[in-house]
Amino acid sequence: MDALRIISEDHNNLWRMATAVDQLAIELEDGGALEAEFLGSVLDYIVQFEERLHYPKEDDFLFRFLRLRSPEVANTLDRLERDHWQATTHHAALQSSLKNVMAGQLSGAALAKQLRQYTTDLKTHILTEEEQLLPLAHKMLLAEDWREIDRAFHDPVHPLFGDAAQAEFREWYHRIVSVAPETLGLGGKSAGHLPGGASPAQAEVLLRVQGLESCYGRIKALKGISMEVRRGETVALVGANGAGKTTFLRTLSGVQPMSAGSIVFDGEDISKLRSDKRMRRGICQSPEGRQVFGPLSIEDNLRLGAYTQPRHQVAGDMEKIFTMFPILKEKRLQPAGTLSGGQQQMLAIGRALMGRPRLLLLDEPSMGLAPLLVQEVFDVIKTLKSQGMTILLVEQNALAALDIADRAYVLETGCVTLTGTGNELVRNDQVRAAYLGM
Ligand SMILES: Nc1ncnc2c1ncn2[C@@H]1O[C@H](COP(=O)(O)OP(=O)(O)O)[C@@H](O)[C@H]1O
Ligand SMILES: [Mg+2]
Repeated sequence: MDALRIISEDHNNLWRMATAVDQLAIELEDGGALEAEFLGSVLDYIVQFEERLHYPKEDDFLFRFLRLRSPEVANTLDRLERDHWQATTHHAALQSSLKNVMAGQLSGAALAKQLRQYTTDLKTHILTEEEQLLPLAHKMLLAEDWREIDRAFHDPVHPLFGDAAQAEFREWYHRIVSVAPETLGLGGKSAGHLPGGASPAQAEVLLRVQGLESCYGRIKALKGISMEVRRGETVALVGANGAGKTTFLRTLSGVQPMSAGSIVFDGEDISKLRSDKRMRRGICQSPEGRQVFGPLSIEDNLRLGAYTQPRHQVAGDMEKIFTMFPILKEKRLQPAGTLSGGQQQMLAIGRALMGRPRLLLLDEPSMGLAPLLVQEVFDVIKTLKSQGMTILLVEQNALAALDIADRAYVLETGCVTLTGTGNELVRNDQVRAAYLGM
């Protein structure tokens, strides 16, 4: 019956987050400033935690057996399951109100009211489960039910309940706590149209971004970016520190909200899709600064990258990664934190590959590496390219990036200022002066 304890721990976690949201709502009602970015990330955390970890535990196990053993609670279960299904809709509505407040189209008080309703509903939901369902399950479920439930809940490599998923959320939770306000007690110019014919490849467009904008509070970090990536292309996005490269990639993968524009991937407008849905469609990112999970083994880090994938293919995919990066195979059971910087970068790329990308996003893979290792990383990218992978490569190391890119865009303070083939840009005087130190 460990499952009950695990579900209760989940509830505690959600409750703490809901309380943090309550607190932000109170501050808003008191006329305080909107902590927009923080609020947005807490809401994201809540909905992802619910959708990916918590609700499947309840729907697929607890509720399923309760329906079997206690048919009289069917109505309650129906209601709770409906709440589960509607979580994303409610979340999207809140995020959209948040955006409207930032745009000055909605009052802080109106948002606060909505937030309070949201947390009240969430807390009522949690209490119903804690007070009615968990005790009922304790009483009514049979030993054989618990065997099946506990087996799934304790499977260390289960994509939903396993160590990797837990570690990911723990990490995320700590990131949120580390930027939380103390009071919460959680412990340029637009590039316009692209010049025609810039692409050497005549393959069909896989990614088309138009007029993309994204903000941090009132600061617009992306000011209307338009670009495209064709199937099989390697496209580089180069620019100085602070130009908005990371923000752009994070907006593409859906972890950073966009405030205007559109993102079309493989013919589908994905602008409003959640990040995990985008990942399922094949947009996989290797983040800036590598961000591997230090305490987890190399294998578990790789498994994290495959959480959207069917389980049966994971072992085979991992072997492919190990063929590509033999050093990772050698150290497969060691904590990722023991790897060198270059090896961690390989792991970060490997983790992204585990999601079977159709578009691989690489954020400064050469950052902080010694020249020899930079060469190694770029060799890996070349190999992927030769295998037909479509790659969007973000780099401050413009020379190396332009060298392997079919095409490139130069980003300056949130705007695309130049575009052309890698060759053209390497020869461009402006680029040479600004980025290549020539
Ligand atoms: N979390 C954040 N909060 C506020 N501003 C941010 C945040 N992250 C980045 N910025 C700002 O957005 C701009 C673009 O940053 P970033 O996308 O990280 O650039 P790059 O990856 O090109 O170095 C910078 O001015 C940066 O200061
Ligand atoms: Mg960056």
